[in-house]
Amino acid sequence: RKNLVIAIDGYSSCGKSTLAKALAKKLGFIYIDSGAMYRAVTLYFIRNNVDVNNQEAVANALEHIELNFHSRDYQSHITLNGEEVSEEIRQMPVSEYVSEVSANKLVRKDMVKQQQRMGKSKNIVMDGRDIGTTVFEDAAVKFFMTADPKIRAERRFKELQSKGDTTTTLEEVFENLAHRDYADTTRAESPLTRAEDAIILDNTELTETEQLDFALDMVHQHL
Ligand code: C5P
Repeated sequence: RKNLVIAIDGYSSCGKSTLAKALAKKLGFIYIDSGAMYRAVTLYFIRNNVDVNNQEAVANALEHIELNFHSRDYQSHITLNGEEVSEEIRQMPVSEYVSEVSANKLVRKDMVKQQQRMGKSKNIVMDGRDIGTTVFEDAAVKFFMTADPKIRAERRFKELQSKGDTTTTLEEVFENLAHRDYADTTRAESPLTRAEDAIILDNTELTETEQLDFALDMVHQHL
């Protein structure tokens, strides 16, 4: 391939999107948040009472879902059938259901196809769970991110609070992360796992600047 793809996979809330955005900005690449796509599909399923175990209903729903990114500012602004849903997809109802929806084979097939299309001709940084293993097995550089679960829960909790969520507790956030990590790593369809050639980045004790410097170093070594 002529264009460059940087794949960032890892557990929930360990700073993948923060690093991905910073890298994209620095390198002039387009940032694509694959998790936002699964979240937007989940929001559609919740709103329209789509039963994720009913394959016919899932297939039909997918035909009625159009997702678009507006990522000029390297934020993950996503629209679901024309409606801006970037804020709503981060809230707990979606977080609690997304791992079930994303385990569905038809949902994955559809999302992977769209993601591959987005990375066909442009330089991109994409973050998610299966980017280096499934979506872009031939990515130029792959990162696998991890961090202490407690630290991750605290970071996500603070983020929710700063967005005005005063009802979700730290314990609930911790439980949700643990649940998603378990579901994402044990599902049958492209489970979360480190690609053999992925560079491990544990950021428990790293600042955002240190992570970016490390990642840029790795990228320059690999290109
Ligand atoms: O990245 P984020 O935490 O927003 O992703 C939400 C959920 O979407 C994950 O917990 C996972 O179940 C699913 N996901 C996935 N494959 C991806 C990205 C996200 O299954 N590439």
